[in-house]
Amino acid sequence: MAVGIFDSGLGGLTVLDAVSNRLPDVPFAYLADSAHAPYGVRTADDIFELTCQSVQRLFDAGCDLVILACNTASAAALRRMQESWVPPNKRVLGVFVPLIEAMTERQWGDNSPPREVAVKHVALFATPATVASRAFQRELAFRAIGVDVEAQACGGVVDAIEDGDMILAEALVRSHVDALKRKMPLPDAAILGCTHYPLMQDAFQAALGGDVKVFSQAALVADSLADYLERHPEMLGTGDAVNLTTGEPSRVSDRATQFLRRRIEFVSA
Ligand code: DGL
Repeated sequence: MAVGIFDSGLGGLTVLDAVSNRLPDVPFAYLADSAHAPYGVRTADDIFELTCQSVQRLFDAGCDLVILACNTASAAALRRMQESWVPPNKRVLGVFVPLIEAMTERQWGDNSPPREVAVKHVALFATPATVASRAFQRELAFRAIGVDVEAQACGGVVDAIEDGDMILAEALVRSHVDALKRKMPLPDAAILGCTHYPLMQDAFQAALGGDVKVFSQAALVADSLADYLERHPEMLGTGDAVNLTTGEPSRVSDRATQFLRRRIEFVSA
């Protein structure tokens, strides 16, 4: 049995780590589409095609349930996949909804009408494709009223992280936070809407200041997956734990080891 976790590259490792800690008995099959990262500068059609290919690879490895640990794929491709591509006996879930439920203080599956919530001014940091999709604002509007969202497309950050250039990544984070603050000087919450960004969480928090509550996804996704598996134990699938990449396995293994601070080995997808 294994649950699939997909990201364009290394960002989904922040989710893999959290779900492995939360569900130590569940094996996970991770796929990094490193050969095609970053997704955040691609068209929605391109992101759809690439995400379907990678998810199919995880289905072929025995997974019945795949988590898109990638906001870009969740924003640009998930709805289309669920409507037209996912076979009836399989499930593909995204990472947006758990985050928005936490921000709007809702329980899983609470579909009551939108209501006023504590946060009023929200800064969203995400890839250009996620920002362009407006998926975050759409999901939020189903659940909350009166929330002002200012989105900042953080070009370059994912490339710098994938290249292991954390100094560049940090400088880019500072300049994207500055750009956001010019549009929204006093956000009360910030969303790290890309699974790569928790690797830069300290830089975001430092640039935003201590008063801004920074929401990041990994732990929220882990809680929501635990809840889902309790209700759907049949979705555990049949595959084994494995880390797959479409890139160069030794290079991806080294970078992943650097980020997780424990040895992790990737093999060719
Ligand atoms: N980590 C991904 C996300 O959450 C993808 C970033 C990218 O490939 O541009 O959006």
